[in-house]
Amino acid sequence: MGTEKRTPAQEWWLRFFNEVVYNSLAPAYNALDWLTFGAWWRLVRRALDYVPDGGRVLEVGFGPGKLHVELSRRADRCFGLDLAWGMCQFTRRRLRRAGLVSRITCGSVFELPYPGGAFDTVVSTFAFSGFPDALRAMREVARVTGPGGRVVLVDIGLPSDGNRAGTF
Ligand SMILES: C[S@@+](CC[C@H](N)C(=O)[O-])C[C@H]1O[C@@H](n2cnc3c(N)ncnc32)[C@H](O)[C@@H]1O
Repeated sequence: MGTEKRTPAQEWWLRFFNEVVYNSLAPAYNALDWLTFGAWWRLVRRALDYVPDGGRVLEVGFGPGKLHVELSRRADRCFGLDLAWGMCQFTRRRLRRAGLVSRITCGSVFELPYPGGAFDTVVSTFAFSGFPDALRAMREVARVTGPGGRVVLVDIGLPSDGNRAGTF
């Protein structure tokens, strides 16, 4: 889960996504759902089956924010954190259009700006596999999850043989 050694090609793709796609191309990333005939959203939305209604919910690495809108509808208090300002802007706009409120922060999973035990549920989809140190990220997520709380992850792994098609 993001802790295995990556090939140079995999590192290149991750850097490309983090620095170019996530920051500058939020609308293009949002089109992934359309490009995959809804398959992406079908995977992402599975997280909702494990998120109880109400409570304090944090989503880490929300991207273009389609899931975040749904979480904001269900939670008593919703928070979102993403490293890419482009994604933060895109998601803020999306929430505004839907008339929903969530406290969006541009920041890193490695330094979550919340006190310990602040959330009942922490959600993350397709973000952990891209973090350079998933265990460190998980320690931070565990710190902000309250006793009896839930961490809901949906993710995929990079192919261990580094093949380009699978990596893409
Ligand atoms: C593959 S996208 C996933 C977006 C969305 N959750 C989805 O399922 O489509 C990964 C997201 O994680 C964010 N991200 C990458 N590194 C991060 C970090 N260190 N802390 C917080 N978010 C990060 C990226 O900006 C991007 O929006």
